[in-house]
Amino acid sequence: MLTDRFRRPINYLRVSVTDRCNLRCRYCVDGYFPFIPHNEILSYEEIIRFVTICAGLGIRKVRLTGGEPLLRKGVEYLIRSITSIDGIEDVSLTTNGVLLEEKVETLKDAGLKRVNVSLDTLRRERFRYITGFDEIDRVIRGIEKALTTGLKPVKINTVIMRGINDDEIFDFVNLARNLDVEVRFIEFMPFGEKGFWDEKRVVSSESLKKRIEEFFEIERDSSSEKGPAVVYRITGGKGKIGFISPLSTHICSECNRIRLTSEGKIKPCLFSDVEYDLKGLMRRGSSDREIEELVIKAVREKPEKKDERGQIKKCQMNLRHIGG
Ligand code: GTP
Ligand code: 5AD
Ligand code: SF4
Repeated sequence: MLTDRFRRPINYLRVSVTDRCNLRCRYCVDGYFPFIPHNEILSYEEIIRFVTICAGLGIRKVRLTGGEPLLRKGVEYLIRSITSIDGIEDVSLTTNGVLLEEKVETLKDAGLKRVNVSLDTLRRERFRYITGFDEIDRVIRGIEKALTTGLKPVKINTVIMRGINDDEIFDFVNLARNLDVEVRFIEFMPFGEKGFWDEKRVVSSESLKKRIEEFFEIERDSSSEKGPAVVYRITGGKGKIGFISPLSTHICSECNRIRLTSEGKIKPCLFSDVEYDLKGLMRRGSSDREIEELVIKAVREKPEKKDERGQIKKCQMNLRHIGG
């Protein structure tokens, strides 16, 4: 099993399969920057080789992210291949939902069991403001189709930003009451467009939960698997709500993950700029043993927690490269 210096077992790998995206969310990307040329992105063969090596070291869960993972051709092939790797128990995907309606059946056939979809507003104009595109209908139809196709759970990631969408909190709780989905409210992290992130825009999970509890009866759901979200059932409701608090609490102490960026860098922590060049190693013809050593080194160097230094540091990179 992979364990870091702080005795955290590392069994979860997030793989960004592309930096391309069909949305431009303000909280994710900053300005215009070109997509990485295709040959600089890891090939499926390279990703599969890497996941196989990681599975041998104890990785059990794999999440595909982007950019937008459904934009990459043949992603179902990747899902099928990763699902069949010995040791991998859970393969999932985080998507913006725009292409979900048309792809969900193929994804399910390939072995995908569950999906997380980003959706920060239920209002058309606001969706356009946040993401730059008028795609809300497709996303909502994608979520509905994921439910009817039988993916379970369907989780909805909602980044709450004061003055932008914090007046929709109850609408999202009602969504989770009416549909069998898990809406996860995420604290707004310092990524994205210059000037868009501001400490004042962060709504802490605790204050959010207090507001919700004034109007809804919620109860901690202990059956939910461990992860960054603290999950609650809504009395009388079909779905659940969850809170992901990367800023206000120390989810770092339970962190079980490493990341692989679309360009083939291993990233031990979302908030750190430290990376290890897997692609270079692979393309120089390295052996599996050398790659194992790089993974072990990256895990060993995983920081204890995000860089705090009294204040929140604006991260250097666009989240689109890292995959959230
Ligand atoms: P589950 O396996 O379904 O629990 O997935 P997940 O919640 O880990 O993945 P998802 O891609 O849906 O991420 C939800 C939110 O949690 C996103 O905003 C991520 O950026 C954030 N997140 C995921 N992993 C980490 C992490 O290691 N550190 C921090 N700070 N935030 C994370
Ligand atoms: N803060 C919090 N979450 C973010 N995401 C993207 N940018 C941010 C941010 N600045 C989330 C998206 C997506 C997940 C992968 O990361 O909502 O669901
Ligand atoms: Fe694309 Fe996701 Fe970034 Fe939005 S948050 S621009 S959907 S990668």
